[in-house]
Amino acid sequence: MWDIDGNEYIDYVGSWGSAIICHVDDEVLAALAETMKKGTSFGAPCLLENIVAEMVISVVPSIEMVRFVNSGTEACMGLLRLACAFTGREKIIKFEGCYHGHADPFLVKAGSGVSPLGLPDSPGDDDFIPPMPEFLNALRRITKDNGVFRHNSRLDTLRKIIGGGLPVGAYGGKREIMEMAAPAGPMYQAGILSGNPLAMTFGIHTLKRLKQPETYDHLNTISSKLIQGIVDARKKVGHAICGGYISGMFGFFFTESPFYNFEDSKKSDNAKFARFYR
Ligand SMILES: Cc1ncc(COP(=O)(O)O)c(C=O)c1O
Repeated sequence: MWDIDGNEYIDYVGSWGSAIICHVDDEVLAALAETMKKGTSFGAPCLLENIVAEMVISVVPSIEMVRFVNSGTEACMGLLRLACAFTGREKIIKFEGCYHGHADPFLVKAGSGVSPLGLPDSPGDDDFIPPMPEFLNALRRITKDNGVFRHNSRLDTLRKIIGGGLPVGAYGGKREIMEMAAPAGPMYQAGILSGNPLAMTFGIHTLKRLKQPETYDHLNTISSKLIQGIVDARKKVGHAICGGYISGMFGFFFTESPFYNFEDSKKSDNAKFARFYR
């Protein structure tokens, strides 16, 4: 990549994961051109949405129905409203340091872009924290014990990668919950450009590529090499640093000891982290 001053960069950001199969792919460009000839938005569902929905349902066991939106923020907003409609509850629990987009309820003690900028109510440094295997099971137990959701009820959000690099988000779950969303049910949520043909076309190609055998092994291998290289290079010049990765996601903290949760991540040198990301 080149910036406006002609500086050359290697792009390790990849639109924060969206460009997982790369930026300019000939096959994708040809498919998008074909789709464009038929129209880019109708304000009505299109068949391509069904194809992406089926692809999602086939790989995410907890999802029986899926609703497309235009961003991760929107997906989280829709999911939250649906969860409140289904449970009849108004309160939510949000993890300190997590980022779920820029809607009001998600910005309470938010991480990601919010913390490196040192904005008010941002708890501090946050980057990629590999989840402990017990984490989700423990959450499931606690929510079940407290009657938060009925047994086996759960909702998931999906974000940018299912659109390859065009604006997409989605939320989904069991049919009995999803059918509460309008027009089937009383929980209103809609979006004119949601699930538009271009984004769905890109999504189909991205998900097809990701389904190819060994894709995730390859992602693991290159992410491990990259994060190890970053950590080694910084240690060589005297920085305390440690990193982690899963598939194409990776991150690091300016701290010596490994990090498993938000408390651990607070030990990171926040000023250095902010300087690095500016
Ligand atoms: C977990 C999570 N939820 C929601 C979002 C918001 O997504 P978007 O920027 O597409 O609105 C992000 C963005 O990074 C995210 O990481």
